[in-house]
Amino acid sequence: MITREAIKDIIKAGTMAPSGDNSQPWRFEVEGDKVVIILVDKDIALINYRLRGTLMAHGAALENMRLAAAAKGLDSQISVLMDKEKIASIRFFDGRVAEDDKELAKYIPSRVTNHKPFKKVPLPVDFVEFLEKETGTVGGGVVSLTQDQRTVRDIGKLSGVFERVVLEFPPLHRVFFDHVVWSEEEELQKHTGLYVKTLELSPPEEFGFGLYRSSKTARVLNALGFSRLIAAQNGRLYGESGSIIGLSAASDNDAEYITLGRLLERIWLRCHQFGLSAQPLTGVQFLNQTLRGEGPGGFMPGHVAMVEKAYDKIASLLQVQKGETLAFMLRVGYSDPPSARSTRLPPQIMFK
Ligand SMILES: Cc1cc2nc3c(=O)[nH]c(=O)nc-3n(C[C@H](O)[C@H](O)[C@H](O)COP(=O)(O)O)c2cc1C
Repeated sequence: MITREAIKDIIKAGTMAPSGDNSQPWRFEVEGDKVVIILVDKDIALINYRLRGTLMAHGAALENMRLAAAAKGLDSQISVLMDKEKIASIRFFDGRVAEDDKELAKYIPSRVTNHKPFKKVPLPVDFVEFLEKETGTVGGGVVSLTQDQRTVRDIGKLSGVFERVVLEFPPLHRVFFDHVVWSEEEELQKHTGLYVKTLELSPPEEFGFGLYRSSKTARVLNALGFSRLIAAQNGRLYGESGSIIGLSAASDNDAEYITLGRLLERIWLRCHQFGLSAQPLTGVQFLNQTLRGEGPGGFMPGHVAMVEKAYDKIASLLQVQKGETLAFMLRVGYSDPPSARSTRLPPQIMFK
């Protein structure tokens, strides 16, 4: 029987997983040798269609738990539940453990989102070989990769469209800025939200970002053309990466996003194993899913057209097949380490 201390360690590894705006949308119930991951819904609905971003975070947390158990010599089995807020369970038992899983587990504590510029250097051949095999490892999800510099540049530029919509569409502007954590003091008090120091802004950029917080000032800045300028600047930064990795869903089934989250976490940890940095680029993908799944709602027609066009172009550049949905992108490359990192809430665990 697995000890309480071991279960706590494993769950802690789960909580180190990435989540949209560091929302950490989970709590845990423990029944003997089984942990159930429970949904705590606190993500931004407009860019979290059918909670698919949340399900990806749950998948990443599950994969971390599986790997952390492997590092302790324990095998495990993940079962998708999707029973109201009970998302999935993971049961631990004695068994054979892959050496590669133990190796990946080492990078769980250091995995981080890196917003710094990346070098335009090709990825190591061994990493690309791993990537080609990765699709099969968790039983779903499709991985695509481009290292072609022109394609990377175009995808980066198209991804900047999201920033423009965030700055120009008031409901999205409001929720986005509500999630920003503005100082180290606030981060250490809240342990959740988008910590401004992780964004790698220069002092004038951070000042400008602060001005954008007010919806009135945002309107003025937008009229002066700042939203376009910022979108173009971010797009350029994204496009200067060594490569872009795409993760696509092969079906319209929500549960597949749990698998995609597991796949994402494995790839991200693999990046760290090879000394590579990664940053997700997901705004266009998730907004596109909302617009196409729920209709344009209150979005401005110009924004709808811009997002849908950007999505279609990116999907075609990454050769996403008909019937598949490009859910997530990671820009990956060599970079200096990030200047700051997001912290975590203490795990919420209930032993039954
Ligand atoms: C579903 C999902 C979507 C995300 N989208 C973005 C994104 O578009 N841009 C970005 O910079 N980070 C994105 N992230 C990364 C989170 O912001 C990050 O994981 C969180 O702030 C915690 O920081 P850490 O990854 O450094 O631990 C995303 C993460 C998840 C799981």
